Amino acid sequence: MAPLIDTHAHLDAEQFAADLPAVLARARAAGVGAMIAVATTAPSSAVCVSLAARHTELLATVGIHPNSIMEASPTAWDEVVALVEGERVVGIGETGLDRHWDSTPFAVQEEYFVRHLELRRRHHRPVVIHCREAEADMLRVLRTEFDRHGPIHGVMHSFVGDTAMAEACRAMGLYLSFAGMLTYKNAAPLRETAAKQPLDRVLVETDSPYLSPVPLRGRRNEPAHVVYTARCLAGLLGVEEERLAEQTTANARKLFRLPV
Ligand code: NI
Repeated sequence: MAPLIDTHAHLDAEQFAADLPAVLARARAAGVGAMIAVATTAPSSAVCVSLAARHTELLATVGIHPNSIMEASPTAWDEVVALVEGERVVGIGETGLDRHWDSTPFAVQEEYFVRHLELRRRHHRPVVIHCREAEADMLRVLRTEFDRHGPIHGVMHSFVGDTAMAEACRAMGLYLSFAGMLTYKNAAPLRETAAKQPLDRVLVETDSPYLSPVPLRGRRNEPAHVVYTARCLAGLLGVEEERLAEQTTANARKLFRLPV
């Protein structure tokens, strides 16, 4: 079986503080060849970078999550920028827009999202995008970016939008990454959307430690569990698991220009 890549895991989360080596060993045993440790704050960016320096199967992103902006220190943005050129930093984010939680005023979220989009252009790294209950605003900001600067090198992470949203994102150059929610009983519309996506534009992820896929729903999520989401996506796209693994890993390598 070709190795899978978990393209989005919050391995700096406190939920992994006690047993990260065991978590990584289980991932390896499950056939996960690489994982991207995705940052949510400036301190988290520094931790993700240091994790990637210590573990050969880990790569990192740097950025500030829309829901974490208000807790950021005055120097947070500069700290993130200072880390971007690290050789194991393969992406910018996670960034984006979130109307579900109101921890950050929406105008501030948008300002930071645009900053991340500029940063990824300056440093030629893909952007990792979070979108929750903000599809219309997301498309508006992305279209502005696309119209000014052309195709957007990046990924809509933990994609839960509809088919029109998926098509709009792909048309602007983005990849779509599916997480454990794809396996949930009430996610039939998402599965219908996933089934229509071209194999060369999809990725898989866990978004660990959150939202474990079925049959592990409710437990702490970890990269080894990405196999359940990959299996589900293979079924939806009508391909063998082996083929799905091969192609999603090739997609991740291409998007993030992975050295592994
Ligand atoms: Ni995330």
